Amino acid sequence: MWLITLKIIELFAGIGAPRWVLQLANIDHKVVWFCELDKYAEKSYREIYNDYETPNLGDITKIDVNNLQKEEIDLIIGGWPCQDISLVGKRKGIDKDSGTRSSLLWYSLKIIEFYKPKWIINENVGNVLNAKDYGIPQKRKRVFIISKLNENWMWKFP
Ligand SMILES: C[S@@+](CC[C@H](N)C(=O)[O-])C[C@H]1O[C@@H](n2cnc3c(N)ncnc32)[C@H](O)[C@@H]1O
Repeated sequence: MWLITLKIIELFAGIGAPRWVLQLANIDHKVVWFCELDKYAEKSYREIYNDYETPNLGDITKIDVNNLQKEEIDLIIGGWPCQDISLVGKRKGIDKDSGTRSSLLWYSLKIIEFYKPKWIINENVGNVLNAKDYGIPQKRKRVFIISKLNENWMWKFP
């Protein structure tokens, strides 16, 4: 039993796979808000979780942190667009202000700096982990970037 409810923000929420995993793991959580540009993805997200209340702040480039309410956030989680870093794409890259879709990652920074969450998890394509080795019916390598605020912390991947 969890004694706390994790307060989370989902960036580039898509259909909310991170939220699904929290549910599967029985981790009590509340999504404070999410951002997703695509209206069809949002529709799926809302139907999957029967959640028509949580605000979708939409386009991450347009989020003004001055309009956000300061509160303690445990986890910011997101999988930013992968087209420009995927091995099967044109590899236009991820440089800040380059205008590529993958460079949208940099817009996460303003949100991270504003909330200073305890944890951040970013997920994307890569050459490190393969989803098929973790019970997912998808042969696809993923990278997970896990960040923790302040404390010394040793991570042992299960
Ligand atoms: C790699 S997918 C994320 C998948 C997600 N983790 C899931 O579980 O479905 C990237 C998502 O970013 C969204 N996106 C693209 N540009 C965006 C923007 N400017 N602001 C917010 N979301 C955006 C896309 O519509 C897409 O759903």
